[in-house]
Amino acid sequence: SAAEKGGFDWFMRKEIYEQPRAVADTLLGRHTEDGSLTLDEIRIPEAELRTIQKIIIIAAGTSFYAGMVAKYAIEHWCRIPCEVELASEFRYRDPIVGPTTMVVAISQSGETADTLMAIRHAREQHARVLAICNTNGSTIPRESDAVIYTHAGPEIGVASTKGFTTQLAACYLLGLYLAQVKNTMFGDEIASVMKELEGIPPLMQQVLDDSQVVVDLAARLIDQPSVLFLGRHVGYPVALEGALKLKEIAYLHAEGFAAGELKHGPIAIIEEGMPVFVVVPPRGRDQLHEKVISNIQEVRARGARPIVLAEQDDTFVEQFASTVIRLPKVSTILQPLVAIIPLQIFACELATQLGHDVDQPRNLAKSVTVE
Ligand code: G6P
Repeated sequence: SAAEKGGFDWFMRKEIYEQPRAVADTLLGRHTEDGSLTLDEIRIPEAELRTIQKIIIIAAGTSFYAGMVAKYAIEHWCRIPCEVELASEFRYRDPIVGPTTMVVAISQSGETADTLMAIRHAREQHARVLAICNTNGSTIPRESDAVIYTHAGPEIGVASTKGFTTQLAACYLLGLYLAQVKNTMFGDEIASVMKELEGIPPLMQQVLDDSQVVVDLAARLIDQPSVLFLGRHVGYPVALEGALKLKEIAYLHAEGFAAGELKHGPIAIIEEGMPVFVVVPPRGRDQLHEKVISNIQEVRARGARPIVLAEQDDTFVEQFASTVIRLPKVSTILQPLVAIIPLQIFACELATQLGHDVDQPRNLAKSVTVE
């Protein structure tokens, strides 16, 4: 009923709008007065965590893309080699896993069969298993050594939204916690990232409040047969997740690419007028921003319509864009928390305008409990 949906037409839309609250709840109570992180649910002793030499993140669907973002954060902050693997691939390739491996299973439902089978395999090889999960008492956390719960609340829409952003928040917490345990960051550095993280929910709200441009865009792009998404660094998994949302609920052909890979193939499919979303990283000391700008020029030169997601004061990108979607100022590694929101809204809006059942898309299940 409409009441259950809090006045929204779809659960998915309601869940998109719940994200500032869901992320804030996930971050709540995770550190002490002096700024040090306390992840009470991690019952793997710190001494044992210090012996970890490799992390393998295992997940499916949207959770896999959260895992891709986590890899950038964990390697950058903790200097622990980190792989991300699709749960359905992991078990069947004889992975190298042992007592000094930590397997991180990310699952909103905690019941995905592929992910569950993967952690069972990892435990047989004596790995430590940590779950990041939204469902209390579900199978995956029950079969793990430790768990970080996300506090998104029940997610009803089949296409995951607040599930994703709260997983990102939990992954950042894990990365900072491991950096604290392994001493790869100074305490004040950890505290300052934590402070930025805690300031993000109001910025997510700002993105929601400014979403009219995305709604208008969906109305204009309703007849498009195909939409592309580009990003680099953590913008790459955001591009993949943006494309997945469109496939799931709008049944459109949508693909995400690492912007740097364009020239190695994907650029050949660009056609006149094709909408290409581009996630632009903040300007910084690295060259990411310039690199992405040149990728925008490449697709534009071939007739594409670049729809650019960029920091609000990044006026430089305007000349290269056909539409600009403004993002609040945040550091690169945390940008997925705000950058994904317009892409979720775009998919939800387009699917609604196409007359699809947004909450119950054809052929999909909320949790896939068979392999
Ligand atoms: C299904 C859902 C997706 C979800 C994936 C992983 O395919 O339709 O939305 O991302 O499973 O689910 P999990 O519960 O393990 O995160």
